[in-house]
Amino acid sequence: MKSLPTISAALCVRRLAAIALATAAVLPGLRSLGEEGSDSKQITAKDPAPNHREPGTENRESSHYTQREPTRDGIGKVYMGREIAKVVGHGAIRWLERPEREREELPGKVVENMELKPGHTVADIGAGSGYFTFRVAKKVPEGKAIAVDINEKMLAFIEEREKELGMKNIETHHGTIEDTKLPEDTVDLAFMVDAYHEFSHPREMMESIVEAIKPGGRVIWIEYRKEDPTVAIKPLHKMTQAQVKKEAAAVGLTHLETRDFLPSQHFMIFQKPK
Ligand SMILES: C[S@@+](CC[C@H](N)C(=O)[O-])C[C@H]1O[C@@H](n2cnc3c(N)ncnc32)[C@H](O)[C@@H]1O
Repeated sequence: MKSLPTISAALCVRRLAAIALATAAVLPGLRSLGEEGSDSKQITAKDPAPNHREPGTENRESSHYTQREPTRDGIGKVYMGREIAKVVGHGAIRWLERPEREREELPGKVVENMELKPGHTVADIGAGSGYFTFRVAKKVPEGKAIAVDINEKMLAFIEEREKELGMKNIETHHGTIEDTKLPEDTVDLAFMVDAYHEFSHPREMMESIVEAIKPGGRVIWIEYRKEDPTVAIKPLHKMTQAQVKKEAAAVGLTHLETRDFLPSQHFMIFQKPK
């Protein structure tokens, strides 16, 4: 397993304490996350609303979606037969950074299986607190890791941690709910961990991700296994392999392989045509 970024315990404690204070209003939600052992989602007042649209794009809502009564953890918007989950707020940073993730999601092995080269440009789409961004950045010392998120507070957390760690090859990147805003053909690998299921505009997001990847570049999709009833995660926060493949094929990605080394998640590799 790869080593964690070398963060001093004191720095970690200080920052997490600050976040705990700043996000006191949403902590009850976090407690319930812990109790249930799953990443239950909630929307905080300052986070982008799931159906918020950028000015000037009002008429671009595509026919890819239908709307129904939202279920408890969803937004009621249905894409290719799947209801989209509510987006997680920055109050979940503590949850995303929980130590148990090491054994639950094997981040070292995940990064190892990305097969990165030192000069790669890698985009972590829906980066959250940067749990994976920092680990990836260490493996691309001559390249960079780009943390893409719609939540400025998540990005601010990453920027602060990058400064503390003295790292230089992480870029934070503020996308919109339907566009990564990454430049065309510039990314070797884009990956999404526990994030895609909550993209409110998955088709548009994937189109923009595919556009940003170099021809022949890869997309790695990591989601909790919906086929497995023993995976104790709420249904909308899990995806079947068949569903992921269907949604990837819709934007022209080819499935290369699925690797089965994770305790509860699929690790699926796709490629953009050369
Ligand atoms: C559950 S968190 C996962 C964070 C991180 N990937 C991890 O595994 O620790 C999902 C993240 O996706 C972000 N997100 C949701 N919709 C997005 C979009 N359209 N573009 C970029 N990020 C998005 C949320 O703001 C949140 O930070």
